[in-house]
Amino acid sequence: MPVNEKKPLILLIVGGGIAAYKSLELIRLLRGAEFEVRVVLTKAGAQFVTPLSLASLAGNKVYEDLFSLTDETEMGHIELSRQADLLVIAPATADFLAKAAQGLANDLASTLLLASDKSVLAAPAMNWRMWLHPATQRNFERLRSDGMLFIGPNHGAMACGEFGPGRMAEPEEIFAAINAVLHGQKRLAKDLAGRESLAGKKVVVTAGPTFEPIDPVRYIANRSSGKQGYAIAAAARDAGAKVVLVSGPVALPPLAGVELVRVETARDMAAAVEAALPCDVFIAAAAVADWRVDSDFDQKIKKNGDSPPALKLVENPDILATVARRSKNRPSLVVGFAAETEKLLEHARKKLARKGCDMIVANDISPEKGVMGGDQNTLVLISAQGEVAWPKLGKDEAARRLVEHIGELVSKIGGG
Ligand code: C5P
Repeated sequence: MPVNEKKPLILLIVGGGIAAYKSLELIRLLRGAEFEVRVVLTKAGAQFVTPLSLASLAGNKVYEDLFSLTDETEMGHIELSRQADLLVIAPATADFLAKAAQGLANDLASTLLLASDKSVLAAPAMNWRMWLHPATQRNFERLRSDGMLFIGPNHGAMACGEFGPGRMAEPEEIFAAINAVLHGQKRLAKDLAGRESLAGKKVVVTAGPTFEPIDPVRYIANRSSGKQGYAIAAAARDAGAKVVLVSGPVALPPLAGVELVRVETARDMAAAVEAALPCDVFIAAAAVADWRVDSDFDQKIKKNGDSPPALKLVENPDILATVARRSKNRPSLVVGFAAETEKLLEHARKKLARKGCDMIVANDISPEKGVMGGDQNTLVLISAQGEVAWPKLGKDEAARRLVEHIGELVSKIGGG
């Protein structure tokens, strides 16, 4: 959609949900970026936020009533939606989506929606059972095929104390989505149209370090935090995949909507991955210990005399190479990581061939980069098709982009 020369005008419909308080922050972000904001508050919405707060932040009067004579003389309701560059519904409740899917027009907000031919971006917010209810999913599908764009809902804790999909997207996410739609960022706009790139696919992700025991109390480990692997699992889930996350010992909470299999050693991880197959995509993000101690000490090794014990190391199974070289049930796409402290690309290119995988994600983990345990990553994707280098990104954003890229590859493989 072309952006007008004048300030872009957002018509924001605030529905009745506890998430309505986040719309105040959304208005603040929009106004800070030179958007004009007109707010329509539904009757239920007014139970959660006051017209005065909305009007103060928007710098405009708030519209509530379909049959207000003053509003009709100042600006007819048709005019309200006609002048807008984009209609945003946040929060979009189950009730509002149901009404919109039916084309009902019995209050100001639903009438405006029906009277508009502009793009509409909805940010659903409701209890997860309501979101997953077949009726809501049916309405969502209907609206999506009518062209309504969606941001969220996110998975997470809900105001009612439950956990699941239904949390309204954060104001920053909605703000980014508004910009993407207005500036015609096709890829993002396609995501917003809800074509979940991994819908119906099963993705297995490994994450975190492995602990290799020396004796019952000591072990060999590494500094992997598991953050990147967990972020990838969450992004794959958000892209519609059924996700199994095989995780070494980490200090991260489980992810809602992701099947978590906790393991300690590389051999346990290999067995858990094997048990999770078949899958469509395998992503080996774990920092698996290459070696384990060849010992069967069932008691703590004691200091006896002056010579320290000699530890003999033996090689662990290579999970990535084993999955990539399967003749039966090989996933359509096998993705490995190359975490290197030197000669990043050289090592990564060799690893692609040696492991037999379809893509290697190279990341520079030299200590000065602070990747291990940190929140950012600089990745290069290497495949037979070429190499793509990304700038330094937050691990969540890197995961989102990686999953988007994987979704495109999977759809090509599947001929979709
Ligand atoms: O050989 P290297 O450990 O550098 O390879 C890294 C890649 O291989 C990562 O994707 C890692 O998850 C995977 N890997 C594995 N099993 C191992 C060692 C590495 O799956 N035993």
